[in-house]
Amino acid sequence: MGSLDHHHNGLFGKEPWWKDATFYQVYPASFKDSNGDGWGDLQGVLSEIDYLHDLGVDVVWLSPIFESPQKDMGYDVSDYQKVYAPYGTVEDVDSLIRACHDRGMKLILDLVVNHTSVEHEWFKESRSSKTNPKRDWYIWKPARYDADGNRMPPTNWRGYFACPTWTWDEHTQEYYLHLYDPDQPDLNWETKECREAIYENTMRFWLDRGVDGFRIDTVNKYSKRTEYVDAPVTDPTSPDQPAPEMWCNGPRIHEFIREMRAKALAPYGAVSVGELSNTPLTSQVLPYVSAAAEQLDMVFEFSMIRLGTGGGFGAKYIYHPFPLSTLKAVVAKWQTFIEGTDGWTTAFCENHDNGRAVSRFGDTSTPELWAASAKTLALWQATLTGTLFLYQGQEIGMKNMPASWGIGEYRDIESGNFYAEAVRSGDAGRVRDTMDGLRILARDHSRIPFQWDDSANAGFAPDGARPWMRVHDEYRDINARKQAGDPESVLEFYKRVLRMRKQWRDVFIHGAFRLLEPDNEAVFSYVKESASAPGGATRKALVVLNFSKEDQPCIDAAETLGCKQAQVTLLIDTVTGCESAKEGSRTTLRPWQGRVYVNF
Ligand code: GLC
Ligand code: CA
Repeated sequence: MGSLDHHHNGLFGKEPWWKDATFYQVYPASFKDSNGDGWGDLQGVLSEIDYLHDLGVDVVWLSPIFESPQKDMGYDVSDYQKVYAPYGTVEDVDSLIRACHDRGMKLILDLVVNHTSVEHEWFKESRSSKTNPKRDWYIWKPARYDADGNRMPPTNWRGYFACPTWTWDEHTQEYYLHLYDPDQPDLNWETKECREAIYENTMRFWLDRGVDGFRIDTVNKYSKRTEYVDAPVTDPTSPDQPAPEMWCNGPRIHEFIREMRAKALAPYGAVSVGELSNTPLTSQVLPYVSAAAEQLDMVFEFSMIRLGTGGGFGAKYIYHPFPLSTLKAVVAKWQTFIEGTDGWTTAFCENHDNGRAVSRFGDTSTPELWAASAKTLALWQATLTGTLFLYQGQEIGMKNMPASWGIGEYRDIESGNFYAEAVRSGDAGRVRDTMDGLRILARDHSRIPFQWDDSANAGFAPDGARPWMRVHDEYRDINARKQAGDPESVLEFYKRVLRMRKQWRDVFIHGAFRLLEPDNEAVFSYVKESASAPGGATRKALVVLNFSKEDQPCIDAAETLGCKQAQVTLLIDTVTGCESAKEGSRTTLRPWQGRVYVNF
């Protein structure tokens, strides 16, 4: 693996290092528990840093490790400059920074500054009186009253966690805004001193200690529409209405992000990747990631990862099956939207807010199909344009929690609230549908302990410890130790495709994407093509991925690549034994088999 500080020159001009980097998200509570309290910790991450390095990871993204009451797994921060004690100390973060840098890797933290915890000092001050200097660091509004004099919240908005966005504060007799849990009050970015405090207290503090940048939580929600009016009633069954247009991509959002970059990111050369939900139009996304706009380096756009959900609000966990053609169209849209622009894109199929990719997009019905589909998903991701993000456990094909597990094993606040809402409705069908949806989509699936080996607790925590979430029943079959060194394993396949991606970076990381056979519901095929060299020649790759459990005919490689049969090389195959072999280009793909043919 090359050093990240090396800037690639030549054909493509100077490219920032983060375009070629492979990022890997660590969910610290569930990665590795070093001291047996059942909760993952920074020493645990440190002990596995070589595992990540061997995999081919360039940048570790650590989900929030800050002081927090853990209402929302640390996305409710009560002190940005302290580490939640079960994770370790600020000095442990220093050690992790050093361990990464010693290996040519980088470390980014999760920046959660749309809201704080109610336990944060800023909020305690803000709620202490209407005249407190920090009163307008949060969003306070008076009550409304209906015709009968009943107190009502300032607007009818529904938040993300199946509750209203306003909570009444007895002490000062006003409501405060929270897009998430009532314990996660929204900061008021309209207040300049508040913004300055965010830059100083949460960003520069860690950048000064050597972190390399941030994954920026809920990045497009800092600017709210300031009219604070009701949203149209689109869910007549509820008093609370979806209202993302009231707080996503608001009037000052680009100004705020530009300021944040200028004041706290650019001076450090820090990398930024923003979480951009509810922003499905490419024309809305481009302004965030256009280099000239000087806002964010990259964003996560969620159209693909949200497939199968019933939208972001009331029906989120009512599962809707979707055909492969839908997945392909969404991927093609977000692969190509940067072509001819100065923007950049990302590729990912997992994170801590979604079910496992192999359970959602692959096939876990038999051990053979599990392995085959996990590898084909790996090949898919590794051949996509943009910066690649992996989530812990994806590289060993970790699955969703078993379907037999009941709601009691689901620990996430969002899962619990949606389930409780279904129960409150008194509609047994809705309860059943919600549970079925949670089995596929819940955030919990990605949060169970990492499966390191076949010892008690899957090697996540020492024998005798009680992990905070239950370990997957299949950990003896699916674990990192078992896969390491086995050329047929998902893990070793990930290592190979990550190397391949870098080796032919002009094609896989930077190439143009062209979807083939958009209506084929079984095979996902596309061409990746490098920019042309001075002589006009381009490197091309044909990626063919069988997304079905039946044999499928494979598209003709020579014809598609526009070259002679003899010039076609099979670069990689999810089925071992045929790599690099020159062979007839019209072949059959076995169930969940994936291949890449190239003209070089
Ligand atoms: C982001 C996080 C999610 C969290 C929410 C509130 O969406 O990824 O886990 O619940 O923000 O901070
Ligand atoms: Ca621990």
